[in-house]
Amino acid sequence: MCGIMGYIGERAAIPVLLDGLSRLEYRGYDSAGVAVAHDGTVHVRKAAGKLSRLREILERDPVPGNVGIGHTRWATHGQPTDTNAHPHTDESGRFVVIHNGIIENFLPLREELASRGHRLSSDTDTELLAHLIEEEYRGDLVEATRRAVRRASGAYALVVLCAQEPHRIVAVRMISPLVVGFGQGEMLLASDIPALLPYTRDVLVVNDGELVVLTREGVQLESLEGGTVSRSRMHVTWTAEQAERGGFPHFMLKEIYEQPRALQETLMGRLDGDGPVVLEDVHLDAAFARALNKIWITGCGTAYHAGLVGRYLFERVLHLPTEADYAHELRYRDPLVRAGDLVVAISQSGETADTLAAARLCRSRGARVLAVTNVVGSTLSREADDVLYTRAGPEIAVASTKAYLTMLVGQVLLMLYLGSLRGNLRADRARQLVEELAVLPRKVQEILNHPAPVEALAREVADSEHVYFIGRGLDYAVAMEGSLKLKEISYVHSEAMPAGELKHGTLALVTPGTPVVVVLTQAHVYEKTVSGLQEVKARGARVVAVAYEDDPEIGKLADRVLRIPRTDDLLSPVLAAVPLQLLAYWVARERGHDIDQPRNLAKSVTVE
Ligand code: F6R
Repeated sequence: MCGIMGYIGERAAIPVLLDGLSRLEYRGYDSAGVAVAHDGTVHVRKAAGKLSRLREILERDPVPGNVGIGHTRWATHGQPTDTNAHPHTDESGRFVVIHNGIIENFLPLREELASRGHRLSSDTDTELLAHLIEEEYRGDLVEATRRAVRRASGAYALVVLCAQEPHRIVAVRMISPLVVGFGQGEMLLASDIPALLPYTRDVLVVNDGELVVLTREGVQLESLEGGTVSRSRMHVTWTAEQAERGGFPHFMLKEIYEQPRALQETLMGRLDGDGPVVLEDVHLDAAFARALNKIWITGCGTAYHAGLVGRYLFERVLHLPTEADYAHELRYRDPLVRAGDLVVAISQSGETADTLAAARLCRSRGARVLAVTNVVGSTLSREADDVLYTRAGPEIAVASTKAYLTMLVGQVLLMLYLGSLRGNLRADRARQLVEELAVLPRKVQEILNHPAPVEALAREVADSEHVYFIGRGLDYAVAMEGSLKLKEISYVHSEAMPAGELKHGTLALVTPGTPVVVVLTQAHVYEKTVSGLQEVKARGARVVAVAYEDDPEIGKLADRVLRIPRTDDLLSPVLAAVPLQLLAYWVARERGHDIDQPRNLAKSVTVE
């Protein structure tokens, strides 16, 4: 997500802040800003765009001072503009904040503050925190911050500077990472270790629910309730490159392990108890939803595979004709798209040329376009009528993982949203799904906690020439994604197909020892898929099943089973995809490939 840097010491703060932020650039960002306490005022400089723009501003309009905070923003609320860039202040400019993460009760808090006369100048959730701290301030920044964060729920790391208390920086961690660095006569603070490495290797990782008071002399760690916390610092031996990957050997693995948090962020603030799903940038009304003729889903690669999941969900639950097609096919096939149709255009980057072209074509024919994207301010998000941001955070590995999982959950949210508008999703069924969605991040974590079976399997299949993936319904959609992941990073030829299709030709290629991955989570077609499994087994295939942990039969049928926690069958793709991502990763590693930058592929395909 966003990057944070803080400095208090003897040096001029600005060069240290800019240097720290530049070491976090690899994470991706869309705007940057700094604030420095000097002469009884906190001076803010910020700009949309790259750090170079901020540097130019600072050259023209420098700020002296030895205490400061800096931020690179990856937008979640509001477009990437100068105004929405951090730091944010209250009206008086005395309280200055930077923040990573999401404030869940953003909408009610915003209304509450506006009703009490606060003038809010940005679209961000962050700015609310500056106003809350101002309301709570009675001469002690620590107390004011403590009281303010009690009023905000969500996952965040918050850093505060106050004009009246320039000798300290106050910070709070609630899920989003925060690390303190110990220098000689200086102290630092950052969202990630790489920003600190040129200054110190002695760090203290702040835990959830802890408050940090940083002075030139040291750090005081407290709980949010007010008690003192003591923890010893640690010495980091990572290289700068290892630190960028958070200690993981590859960004892809890091991003796979980030999925529980990414999903939490996708869901955050959107499922408020019994109320309807809140999708802040989606403005469909009941009349449109009830009169809806058809849903078209489009995208490329992994985004298209996510769309295949959406197709099953919308058709089955909303009883709406739904079609999913590759954007590069849809745009050239003269589709019968018309007014009253909804086009769901899915793209992590929001910049894929074919997806943009397909969305434009459909829009020109009168359809309403809803973008599902990870990048706020991307071309797709700007051109669409409605936007559902997936909030996966920057994805750096070329092979998409966390973006895919959050696209799936984004579409489940859209299904719930449309279901309540159309009135054809029973309230008790919606509640079941909402409850299950809320525990999915934990279930993904459970899978990630036990990678050993996947690693062992990867060693067994790494030398295979071909791998096949089969499934039915939602399991087929997951098979498609599992197969793409494997081929794109391991260069093993793989193919996915509906389990019922094998016997119509491809079975000829299944010979003794050929790995066939069978995804088996859909109760209503379970027996039918097992028939497909038996067909390949009879040809000597090495059968790998992805199945629920409490499936009693599968152990007898498959050579290897990758188990996932039980969930609602409609949500199983979110879990079933995870062992397949890990399998692709470990096979590629066994084969010694460049996992984060596979050959012939680019992260964003902006050519047609
Ligand atoms: C696969 C992968 C690609 C992208 C595709 C679309 O891991 O990353 O298949 O999914 O190029 O990209 P976006 O989602 O940015 O439109």
